[in-house]
Amino acid sequence: MPPESSGSGREVELPTRDWRDDARFAAQFVRAPVATASVWPSSTALARAVADAALGPARAGDGPLVVELGAGSGAFTVELARRLAGRGRHLAVELNPALAHRLAERLPSVEVVPADVAELPTLLAVRGLPSTGGVDVVVSGLGWSATRPGRDDSLLPVVAATLARGGVFVQFGYTFTRWAAPARALERELRELFGEMSTTATVWRNLPPAIVHRAAHPVRT
Ligand SMILES: C[S@@+](CC[C@H](N)C(=O)[O-])C[C@H]1O[C@@H](n2cnc3c(N)ncnc32)[C@H](O)[C@@H]1O
Repeated sequence: MPPESSGSGREVELPTRDWRDDARFAAQFVRAPVATASVWPSSTALARAVADAALGPARAGDGPLVVELGAGSGAFTVELARRLAGRGRHLAVELNPALAHRLAERLPSVEVVPADVAELPTLLAVRGLPSTGGVDVVVSGLGWSATRPGRDDSLLPVVAATLARGGVFVQFGYTFTRWAAPARALERELRELFGEMSTTATVWRNLPPAIVHRAAHPVRT
């Protein structure tokens, strides 16, 4: 594969998007529709909006610890890796072993973790990382079945606890479901758990159109 420009002046070897990986993802939706949560992987336009929210121009240079949840076939992973260009550390957690295995093959610079995000603090600890307060950026490609917003077993407080003081959490959602109860619970919970919360305009170039929530500065109780 030819090297892609990272946009930072450094060159990194990254695969370009391949329709066969998109097709593999769609096949996993047929196998496990609830966990996979979408029929088709996110678009490059949505991946860019997610990476803008997660890393931004100011964050790219300082070697952050980035943890991605529900990496799937790597739509967000590739864009994040491209911007990180080898700086910092990038973990990508994915429950589906077939998707995780393929992602690890395609992106050797990313630490692919074939596991359940419910185990996030343990997954960090076994890698010698702090299980609380040490992650700079968490990017979630998860659906509601894994984030469980508004429920007693919501993943969001766990994520907030893993983040460093100025840490950032990014979660995408579909515009057409924005007024559904779990989506409203998610926004409410993010406002409770973080000092700052914003949402992008609709990214129309995604199927279906989507929004990106960015929550920063987890509130410590
Ligand atoms: C909506 S897809 C998003 C995939 C990719 N980030 C994208 O935007 O194209 C959700 C992904 O989360 C994974 N997933 C679901 N539950 C999970 C869990 N408990 N732990 C880790 N990954 C999970 C699914 O297998 C699927 O690949």
